[in-house]
Amino acid sequence: MIRLLMIGDIVGRPGRRAVKENLPGLVQEQKIDFVIANGENAAGGNGITREITRELFTYGIDVITMGNHVWNKREVINFIENESRLIRPANYPPGTPGKGYGIYNTKNNVKIGVFNLSGRIFMPDLDCPFRSAATILPLLKEECKIILLDFHAEATSEKIALAYYLDNDISAFCGTHTHVQTADERILPGGTAYITDVGMTGPYESVIGVKKELVIEKFLTQMPKRFEVAAGTYQFNAVRIDIDEQTGNALSITRIQNYE
Ligand SMILES: [Fe+2]
Ligand SMILES: [Fe+2]
Repeated sequence: MIRLLMIGDIVGRPGRRAVKENLPGLVQEQKIDFVIANGENAAGGNGITREITRELFTYGIDVITMGNHVWNKREVINFIENESRLIRPANYPPGTPGKGYGIYNTKNNVKIGVFNLSGRIFMPDLDCPFRSAATILPLLKEECKIILLDFHAEATSEKIALAYYLDNDISAFCGTHTHVQTADERILPGGTAYITDVGMTGPYESVIGVKKELVIEKFLTQMPKRFEVAAGTYQFNAVRIDIDEQTGNALSITRIQNYE
């Protein structure tokens, strides 16, 4: 059995502190073999830097996935090509810097394929995530029994539809992007662990990570507003997924919500 942990969107300094204070203990106590985290909001709420990428790896994260905020810190363009443990949605147009998937090894040398896709409903107009998945899957299946997808998307329908499309082919389907954890975790009939959204690892008293007063004012005035990451205590959202390494089928999926 292989035990994975997928951490929901890490937002700013409170999110990074939540990872620092929760992850090493979780990995040890729950015997986690491999950790994936969405890092698209890790730097000041938008994007990621080289320094923060390194920081997150030191806390025990093995692979960082991204989303619509991937390019917000422009320096990422310079290092994403050389950092195979940082991936962005695979359905960006051909020629985009970086990769949308990777093959990695657990501590016990079990291969894991991880890929990242973005939805298209209320999201940037990228290539079709269904067809992108169908292109990438044979490459991963050639080498790995265990495959995890981070599907970074807004619409619940798009997430559920893609999950059924990929059931039988992947071990775990983790939705991200909404920053709100859903309570619909389950194993699909074909053996894929599923959750619509893993949630957010970031400031607790906030509107999906942003200072609540700023978001309320934006809704009231409809004027442009510079958003700032909220301060205060954190929440840590993740899912733990157990997978049979012989079949690649998921055995269980468990939500984790820790608070400061
Ligand atoms: Fe996010
Ligand atoms: Fe996002």
